[in-house]
Amino acid sequence: MNKNIAHLYSIAQKEERVIIGLMSGTSLDGLDVVLCGISGAGTSSTVKVHHFETVQYSTDFKEDVLSVFSKEQVRLERLCLLNGWIGEQHGLMINQCLQKWGVDGSEVDLIASHGQTIYHSPKRLHQLDKFGNATLQIGDGDRIAVTTGIITLSDFRQKHIAFGGEGAPLAVYGDFLLFAHPTENRVLLNIGGIANFTYLPAGCHSDTFICTDIGPGNTIMDAYVRTYFPNQFYDEDGLIARTGNIQLDLLVALKEHDFFKQSFPKTTGPELFNLSYLENSIEMAGVKTINHADILATLNKFTADMIVDAFLKTMTTMEDLVVYASGGGIHNALLMEHLKSSLPKVQFRDFNTLNINPDAKEAVLFAVLANEAIAGNIIKEQCIQGVPQVSMGKISFPY
Ligand SMILES: Nc1ncnc2c1ncn2[C@@H]1O[C@H](COP(=O)(O)OP(=O)(O)O)[C@@H](O)[C@H]1O
Ligand SMILES: [Mg+2]
Repeated sequence: MNKNIAHLYSIAQKEERVIIGLMSGTSLDGLDVVLCGISGAGTSSTVKVHHFETVQYSTDFKEDVLSVFSKEQVRLERLCLLNGWIGEQHGLMINQCLQKWGVDGSEVDLIASHGQTIYHSPKRLHQLDKFGNATLQIGDGDRIAVTTGIITLSDFRQKHIAFGGEGAPLAVYGDFLLFAHPTENRVLLNIGGIANFTYLPAGCHSDTFICTDIGPGNTIMDAYVRTYFPNQFYDEDGLIARTGNIQLDLLVALKEHDFFKQSFPKTTGPELFNLSYLENSIEMAGVKTINHADILATLNKFTADMIVDAFLKTMTTMEDLVVYASGGGIHNALLMEHLKSSLPKVQFRDFNTLNINPDAKEAVLFAVLANEAIAGNIIKEQCIQGVPQVSMGKISFPY
């Protein structure tokens, strides 16, 4: 037997696997690196987070990625170079974390790499007859495996699309396996560049829950700050927005897009929610002069309102609902105040009570997907939101 396959076989038989999960979302803030122990598989999976760190991207790194990120046109050479280079950089960041944590690479069974999304193109957005849903994450898994010496699973979203999904949100699988509860109606809300949630009614089965993107997140606010505030990448704690006034006409215009009229579940990205979206809304609202703080105040409320709207449209009651929020948006105090005041009956509970750092949550979910691919059962007769439960992720061996 090929030695790599034999090694993988032994990993699949272990009671507990040590897996590094990686997440680099549309916010381009940094690489979330989590090292966890996962025992069992399927609904009996348990996760212990041992180490977590967000390795901040340098300004150069961000600019390199932004040169191809959600752009209609890019230099193909640049894209080709970045694919391998990002994989190698992510590998080096993992090595750096392992050294800092005092963990030897040989103690790690697997890496689960999300990659860097550079374009998300569901059919609902491109509307071209002959093409289906598509999405592209770069940061080649072979480069991570070779740079770290650790078996790497990557590119999870393509299998979801191959089986009819939009490639997102994949949070549904891990959320269901880790957080479904017999007596608590739970909502796992993640506010990254894009906001998404998974609703897990108490005692739920795989056919009773819903997982969907909502809309922005932080993505328009971040793009605005990046453009108009030198050397700033986001509105820290919502402080700029707090000094502004919400422009009601603009708020109404921002909510007008057809995307918000489409039924759930659906997915989206910065290809739709970007500065052009904001400029069109400003034009539609007929706003003549508006200052930066007012724009950020309005965008902040827009994000909160669309989350509230999605909750009200998809859940029958707000009573007995417990929300566990994660993602960088939870650090935007103003955004969280808006959410809580619009949903007075909903209980917001600290994510840490689930024994997972909310900033590490998405990276943990990819570690869970890798665990399923190697040690889980494939139940393709059982669908989650119309997509069979198949294994996701491509396997790269280091040698
Ligand atoms: N202290 C903070 N105040 C306001 N926003 C914050 C703060 N910390 C993080 N964020 C927001 O969270 C984003 C990162 O969120 P993250 O969950 O990592 O998203 P992604 O998965 O898209 O990378 C940042 O770009 C920023 O918009
Ligand atoms: Mg991030």
